[in-house]
Amino acid sequence: MSKVLIVDDEKSIRVTLKAFLENADYTAEVAENAQEAKVKLKQEEFDVVITDVIMPRISGMELVEDVRASSPDTQVIIMTGEPTVETAMEAVRAGAYDYIPKPINKDILLKTVGQAAHIKGLSDAKRRLERINQNYQSTLEAMVERRTKALYRAVRNMVSLLSKVVEMRDLYTSGHQRRVGNLAAAMARELGASQEVIDDIRVAGYLHDLGKIVVPSEILSKPAILTPEEMQLVQSHAIYGMRLIKEVELPDIISDMIYEHHERLDGSGYPRGLAGTEIHAEAHFLIVANVVEAMSSHRPYRPAHGIQAALAEIRSNRGRLYQPEVVDACIRLFEEQKYQLDDTMIQVNLTFGLGAAASVDNGVRAK
Ligand SMILES: [Fe+2]
Repeated sequence: MSKVLIVDDEKSIRVTLKAFLENADYTAEVAENAQEAKVKLKQEEFDVVITDVIMPRISGMELVEDVRASSPDTQVIIMTGEPTVETAMEAVRAGAYDYIPKPINKDILLKTVGQAAHIKGLSDAKRRLERINQNYQSTLEAMVERRTKALYRAVRNMVSLLSKVVEMRDLYTSGHQRRVGNLAAAMARELGASQEVIDDIRVAGYLHDLGKIVVPSEILSKPAILTPEEMQLVQSHAIYGMRLIKEVELPDIISDMIYEHHERLDGSGYPRGLAGTEIHAEAHFLIVANVVEAMSSHRPYRPAHGIQAALAEIRSNRGRLYQPEVVDACIRLFEEQKYQLDDTMIQVNLTFGLGAAASVDNGVRAK
């Protein structure tokens, strides 16, 4: 039931209009001037206000402006004794919905109030929808955030689990993947890569030897030179690692890096003998970090060479086997920043390309 406020300084008009409206099933209240109307409007919500124009102190036009500002959805109808075009225009300019001429004709009154109440009903419905929409939006956003966090957690745990699985079968290289991932990520940061690229590189490092799960552990831990067949099997770990990671649909660049972590700039690496720009820019961090970590650590078939020998290796093959800027970044880390190999499993959020635009600026563009 719509609620109407009648504002007029003439009692007979207030009484007549109230009776007309109540007979037509409206709830009607009256005010004998604009001040009283303003007080009522503050206390309760009206769908329609019908106001006289000429009243003592505050005019009907001023009341229209006031209602527009304080209750923008409430529709105002002006009653005027002089229904000229000017009065009508002034009323509309002030924000009135319509005007009705005095003396008031019951049918015109009910028709105009009916239309105004309908408009008010529509804007109420619109606001209700907006509120529902807003609530839905906030609920949805909160849900997406919760699910995203859960997804990140699951991916992080999966990376950590896969990384441990390989090392459980190859105790001699325990911590190798984490040290490679952390070093490669530090080198990428040194060259100003975005956080997204750094995270992808770190994860690729943590998983780069995953393919070794297809290599028998007695070959992995054989304390002697491998036969050509055994060597071929060991080398196939780069291919198997790439295939396994592709199956779980981590970002493509991660499986690409894993596939290429034994390639060399001059094409002398394996499994595909890629050269120069055929190798992804991101993979160079893994290539250099893998060599440095492997040389500085103990292996079943040889003792550790130490970090100095590892740095000498990348320095002497800078630009031939290893990408120059990546080599320089690695040397800067160890020699200037006193970097230490670190086997901490650092948690990252893989954004699957939804984070900031990826960029690596190490002189070799990604394919
Ligand atoms: Fe490897």
